[in-house]
Amino acid sequence: MDTSEKTIENLLSQMTLKEKIGQLNQAGSTMTCTLPGFEADIDGWVTQMLEGRLSQEEFGRRIAMCEENLREDEIASGSLGNFVNLYDDEKVAAVQKIACEESRMHIPLFIGVDVMRGYRTVFPTPLALSCSWDLQAVRESTAVAKREAYVSGVNWTFGPMLDIARDARWGRIVESPGEDPYLASEIGKVQVETFQEEEADGCRLMATAKHFLAYGAASGGQDYNTVEISRHTLYDVYLPPFQAAIDAGAGAVMSAFHDLEGTPCTMSRWLLTDLLRKQMGFDGFVVSDAEAVKQCVVHGTAADERDAAKKCLLAGGDMDMSSLDYVRYLEELVESGEVSEKDIDRAAGRVLKKKLEFGLFDRGYQYDPEKIQKTVLCSEHRRISLEVGKKSAVLLKNNGVLPIGKEAKKILIIGELADDKDAHMGPWSFTGVKEAQVTILQGMKDCAPEETEIIYARGFGVNDDRSGFEEALSLAREADFVIAVAGETAFMSGEAASRADLHLVGAQEEFLEKLSETGVPAAVVLINGRPLAIGSLQENDGIGAILEAWHLGTEMGHAVAQILYGDYNPSGRLSVTFANEGGQEPMYYNHPNTGKPGGSFKFTSKYQDVPIRPLYPFGYGLSYTGFEYSDLEVENPVLKKDQTLKVKVVVKNIGERSGEETVQLYIRDITASLVRPVKELKRFAKIRLEAGEMGRVEFSLPCSEMGFHDSDGTFVVEPGKFMVYVGGSSEQTLDAEYELV
Ligand code: GLC
Repeated sequence: MDTSEKTIENLLSQMTLKEKIGQLNQAGSTMTCTLPGFEADIDGWVTQMLEGRLSQEEFGRRIAMCEENLREDEIASGSLGNFVNLYDDEKVAAVQKIACEESRMHIPLFIGVDVMRGYRTVFPTPLALSCSWDLQAVRESTAVAKREAYVSGVNWTFGPMLDIARDARWGRIVESPGEDPYLASEIGKVQVETFQEEEADGCRLMATAKHFLAYGAASGGQDYNTVEISRHTLYDVYLPPFQAAIDAGAGAVMSAFHDLEGTPCTMSRWLLTDLLRKQMGFDGFVVSDAEAVKQCVVHGTAADERDAAKKCLLAGGDMDMSSLDYVRYLEELVESGEVSEKDIDRAAGRVLKKKLEFGLFDRGYQYDPEKIQKTVLCSEHRRISLEVGKKSAVLLKNNGVLPIGKEAKKILIIGELADDKDAHMGPWSFTGVKEAQVTILQGMKDCAPEETEIIYARGFGVNDDRSGFEEALSLAREADFVIAVAGETAFMSGEAASRADLHLVGAQEEFLEKLSETGVPAAVVLINGRPLAIGSLQENDGIGAILEAWHLGTEMGHAVAQILYGDYNPSGRLSVTFANEGGQEPMYYNHPNTGKPGGSFKFTSKYQDVPIRPLYPFGYGLSYTGFEYSDLEVENPVLKKDQTLKVKVVVKNIGERSGEETVQLYIRDITASLVRPVKELKRFAKIRLEAGEMGRVEFSLPCSEMGFHDSDGTFVVEPGKFMVYVGGSSEQTLDAEYELV
């Protein structure tokens, strides 16, 4: 179907005002309960479940006693044109069938779901995936997510989330592509392209760049909190991944919950029209975040929900997710003249254009349970989840205990998390299949070499229960190797999961201290969503290794086991800084120097009670081998703005086994009209080298990428001296000077 303006005008001309407003309305199903004496407290149950006070099984049992209202009448009448977060294939088909066959205009629904890390086959969290630095892994995992979601009837994903995250107290750091704008932009570009590129069978999802803008800068790392940042930081740090997504053709942008410069993003005309459309060139539609339209009243910038509906629509917010304020008030706002029908047509036209572009009219209503069954969780998808999982884990410490030697015949696995399927899946995996989840305990058993005995003891959990300590410690004393699985449960990171204290919760550190005193070779595997304050583990010689395994999804158990047994040489590199303490956040590598950078002299910028350097820096990660850098060469150390910097470096694998290195290139603008970061990532490349092998890596960096935005958003490249740094992390680099003239 063509997406010309003519077609859209023609469609609009046949629609009533109600039907046009219906296209601006998105909502999900509602749950009611008619069982006598049984009160459906969905919000309460969700809160309890996400806070670990109600098991997912009990939550499911209670939900099963409720009726799910799919808003059939609203769809049939045309007053609901878009659905949100319906995970059941049959129900998705049912609502789409109503829209396509029963509504007067037969306009298909956008079925929007958070396809953030797979669909039925779950992949690593976005933060974990960004630690792979592997754009092919990003492409493959995104393609699987697209296929599984599409075949299940989904046609719109609320992803990628492109919020730069510099503060580990913010729970949604787990959903972010990390702290660096360049890495995040590269990942976001690949994800938008992959979600949206049409496959032979029409398979494609419309992507959403979210949350616009600077949601990750929430004050104090407290979710939904106000954001106070300068314009040039907004342009240089938070905006680039969204520009990359828009340049890649993202069909939608989701405005963020918070207020920015005193105006809620949801109703900010400067943000949603002047910046997003006029400056950045976005031509899709803007959807609010969940109930964010009505929250403008709570922000105190709308007198009531009618006022909120008016202000949000006129600011450039085209679609209202779940407030129902557009469908309640826009018709009367048009009748009163406060909103024109032209405003409605503009917004509805944007939505219809995307429905046409993404083939919704061509596809109409389809439901093929057999095809769904054959597609989701197929062995190929699970294989890809395993491979991507292995690439996303980061080896943080290894004094030689890993990989586990063949001589270790009795391996003890300790920790509740080791067998907690929900924890392995982690946040934002609501569409995942728990039964398919492979735990670390299961993975270690499946991958154990011949005659190796795997024993399990609960020992400790993410709580203060010490009752399992003694049994676990006595078993540890008889083991050849101990793996202790520590970290966070599934919902200790994610939305509404900010934490002031980044230490391991409960008695975890206490147990690990006692474990280290047994003298048995031990490795800690972390299951967690955010960087944690694990300095005590790093400093403790009795903890021989630390593997940051994040929440790797369906095949996590096998991925971790293959790393621990040495079948896979870990290659992940941190995309976020690990601070020493939560009080040190936000902590990130690409910071300005200040006039008194932290040092031994008293009067310099630092905390008195924690080290100046991060626990683990951006770009850091260990391997079972080692890499040595030499012969950094800048081909053209003096160059003009229209030229390209050419840099070469030699990398050698100095260890006993092959491995993959991520070569990182940073620059520093030494003197500029505004303070510049001490380092900025501008290129990276992965290189696989056999033991003893040397490789040469070459980078080209146009001078046009060496600039920055001044406070009114103008991008400038200024002449002067620069440094270029190349190495295996933001701290281990060779360097050279060059000059722009
Ligand atoms: C949530 C999140 C957003 C998500 C939306 C729909 O509140 O902020 O990222 O896409 O609701 O689930």
